Amino acid sequence: MRVGLTVNGAERDAEAWEGESLLYFLRERLGLFGSKNACEQGECGSCSVLLDGELVCACLVLAAAADGTSVVTVEGLGEDPVGPSSNMRLGAGACPVEDLVRAGVLVGLGVDGAASNEDGNLAGEVHLAVLLARLRASLLGRDDAATALDGRQAWSLGWKGGAACLGREGCGTLEPGKCADLAAFRIDDLSHMGIEDPLQTLALAPPGGAEAVLMNGRVVVRDGRLETADEDSVKAGLALACRRLREAAHA
Ligand code: FES
Repeated sequence: MRVGLTVNGAERDAEAWEGESLLYFLRERLGLFGSKNACEQGECGSCSVLLDGELVCACLVLAAAADGTSVVTVEGLGEDPVGPSSNMRLGAGACPVEDLVRAGVLVGLGVDGAASNEDGNLAGEVHLAVLLARLRASLLGRDDAATALDGRQAWSLGWKGGAACLGREGCGTLEPGKCADLAAFRIDDLSHMGIEDPLQTLALAPPGGAEAVLMNGRVVVRDGRLETADEDSVKAGLALACRRLREAAHA
């Protein structure tokens, strides 16, 4: 049978056998390998695609059922990228973080630094992920928009999700036997007075940076400053490298 659909904005069609999954069709017929065939049981989310705007596991959808639909795969997101602040900063779309989480996709939050979002503050990224989820939920008319992507859930994407995405089983949670990576933030300043829930506050009104950071039990940031290197000389070295790169780019 012939299956025709719109994939990442382009009309595509190919032969498919009856019973063939959309995942197989995308990978083997259309050569789109961004959707992975892992569990093939709808459990891992590595084959997730947007089907007429709905996040689905392509391994659970028949190619025949997708005939005439519009599908966006990971390759399509490359042109309409995902990732909270860097994508918005680049004017390149917004990450549907909560939709991905709901669909069971493994999601980790991180920062890009000057490469694209001009910052290295994970708390800021968590903040944006929450606001984006609530904006999207309200635009979709959802009744639960005010609580979409709970602050704790968003933070968990930063620690557990980040560790899982990197395949780091030894970190991501604080428990005996793990590597004691942690960050401490101050929320006892005037602007945070009256708060009830510190974790929700850290997601909804994060401070500018961590007060202290431990890596593998070792303090690397204390009182908001690096302990393991001279910050001023690191900054001077980076400023020099950036100037050279800009000069080379404009030469
Ligand atoms: S391959 Fe795991 S959910 Fe589809």
